[in-house]
Amino acid sequence: MEALDCIKTRRSVRKFTDTPVTKEEIEQIVAAAAYAPSWKNTQIARYIVVTDEKKKRNLAETCMLDFAYNQKTALHAPALVVVTMLTARSGYERDGSFSTSQGTHWQSFDAGIASQTFCLAAHAQGLGTVIMGIFDENKVAEVLDVPAGQQVAAILAIGHPAEEPVCPKRKDVDALVSYQ
Ligand SMILES: Cc1cc2nc3c(=O)[nH]c(=O)nc-3n(C[C@H](O)[C@H](O)[C@H](O)COP(=O)(O)O)c2cc1C
Repeated sequence: MEALDCIKTRRSVRKFTDTPVTKEEIEQIVAAAAYAPSWKNTQIARYIVVTDEKKKRNLAETCMLDFAYNQKTALHAPALVVVTMLTARSGYERDGSFSTSQGTHWQSFDAGIASQTFCLAAHAQGLGTVIMGIFDENKVAEVLDVPAGQQVAAILAIGHPAEEPVCPKRKDVDALVSYQ
């Protein structure tokens, strides 16, 4: 798929068919997402793939802050990919001090770029994704036993699309760009 088409036709997909997503499909996508840029090439994003029905149900029912849309999406997606970030690396100096006045900002920035790269790679392979930000970070870490030194950044649902969402309206370039 041509890059601009991929960027423009990717939509957040929240309904999936029952077809499972294979380990090979996920690993091809992660291999592409590994090319995302990151702070000093620290590559802090990690991907915890959840296909176990009991665990998915647990995440959907206890970790979505009672947000019904995410509960439904998580419950019916064939797989959830919990994006975590290694902490205290991106945006930090070796002595543990922040490199900039923006503190922990850069680690989330890196995780965001990695997540979008993941979603675009999935779309290029015919799979649908949605990035979910409404969840209880601590509960997710508890359910998945996320290792110390990692923080949950986002939850992605992934599967074969069962809907073709219309594109939510985008702002005109005039509203986005300014020149000096
Ligand atoms: C950081 C972030 C958090 C989001 N959180 C949620 C969420 O919790 N639930 C959901 O259904 N969609 C979520 N979305 C998806 C947005 O609603 C979606 O990207 C936006 O409406 C534009 O639609 P599009 O992705 O189809 O272009 C999130 C997207 C981002 C980037």
